[in-house]
Amino acid sequence: MEHSRFHPFVVFSELKICLKEISAHLKLLLEFMEKFMLKVAEFKTQKVTARKISSHETITNYIQHPTVLGFDDIAGLKDLKKILYTVVILPKQQPQLFYNRVPGNSILLYGPPGTGKTKLVHGIAAESGSILYCISLSDILSALVGETEKNIHEIFTQLKKSDSRCILFIDEIDGICRKRGNSEHDHSRRLKTEIMKQMNQIETCNNIVVIAATNCPWDLDNAVLRRFKKQIYTPLPDEEERVDLFHLLTRNENVFDSVDEIQKLSEMSDGLSGSDISNLVQDALDMPLNELHETKIWKKCEDGFYEPYQGDILEVDSANYEDIWISELKDLPPMSVRARNVTMADFCEAIKQVQVTVTPEDIKKYEDFQST
Ligand SMILES: Nc1ncnc2c1ncn2[C@@H]1O[C@H](COP(=O)(O)OP(=O)(O)O)[C@@H](O)[C@H]1O
Ligand SMILES: [Mg+2]
Repeated sequence: MEHSRFHPFVVFSELKICLKEISAHLKLLLEFMEKFMLKVAEFKTQKVTARKISSHETITNYIQHPTVLGFDDIAGLKDLKKILYTVVILPKQQPQLFYNRVPGNSILLYGPPGTGKTKLVHGIAAESGSILYCISLSDILSALVGETEKNIHEIFTQLKKSDSRCILFIDEIDGICRKRGNSEHDHSRRLKTEIMKQMNQIETCNNIVVIAATNCPWDLDNAVLRRFKKQIYTPLPDEEERVDLFHLLTRNENVFDSVDEIQKLSEMSDGLSGSDISNLVQDALDMPLNELHETKIWKKCEDGFYEPYQGDILEVDSANYEDIWISELKDLPPMSVRARNVTMADFCEAIKQVQVTVTPEDIKKYEDFQST
């Protein structure tokens, strides 16, 4: 028997097709709305960075909480820590030492990327209990010609009014204060002039320290460079500093059997930056976790945790058979898995795979700059 067009079965199946189509269209509409909302959010943030800082607006937007608790969270760099201590902490703690002289309150940190410049500034802010203001090119750059230097002026004016001890950190200053070139725009020249003028003015303010950082000091305008009373090179870590770094980065893990192992790692990682070492430590610590995805045989421990079974499955005797589980990681209950310990072999493997970010030619450039 043939179904008529209005037979309930036909109507029902057509209705089903219609509903399917509607739901597909709804899905598309939802996706479109999601993208649209993202665009609106992006547009809003762009507007925020390009706006002028109003004179009524406080500069609290630029305050950052230090990412470290103090110098103890930063390995090595002993001489730099001493200099920062002298400039930032000593004038407040022992002002009589600076009687009749102005502490050089403008510091430029330069060196290869990943050598801890940014971290060090957070460290001194935490150590000294200073308020840390961080500005970068994108914060102060205004779409309106002439507004960018007004923004700089406004930031310094408000800082000068502050009673608290402040650190103004200009990260990647080469983006703002490049050498003059033939094609230099007027507004970029005015911006540099404003920064230099403001830096001259704060020379006598003993509650403000300006610290700038750059990976390319040779790109900086000479007149700007001269404004920094102290120019400090942050080199790659030496052998002793690398030992410190491995200790620091693994302080919450029980990894090494002896100090000799750390010493060996330090020797193997010659030429790496602090950031390279931090990445390789992360990779090594992740290795036991990555293995969990391939694990199919688990040992259930007395405390209820599952650990990857390390032995030969054929050698499990009947007394222990109940403790052995065959399962994929994803099928085990949440919060029930423990990974094997990280070993020295993981670190050796991670060192082999690490991407070296600073070349000997780069180092030569910094050393040449240092000796000029
Ligand atoms: N001396 C150090 N002590 C501790 N961590 C360091 C050190 N040097 C580099 N690092 C690691 O490298 C990362 C990048 O450091 P960062 O301060 O941003 O370098 P830079 O500003 O010189 O490019 C940090 O987050 C930290 O994990
Ligand atoms: Mg940095």
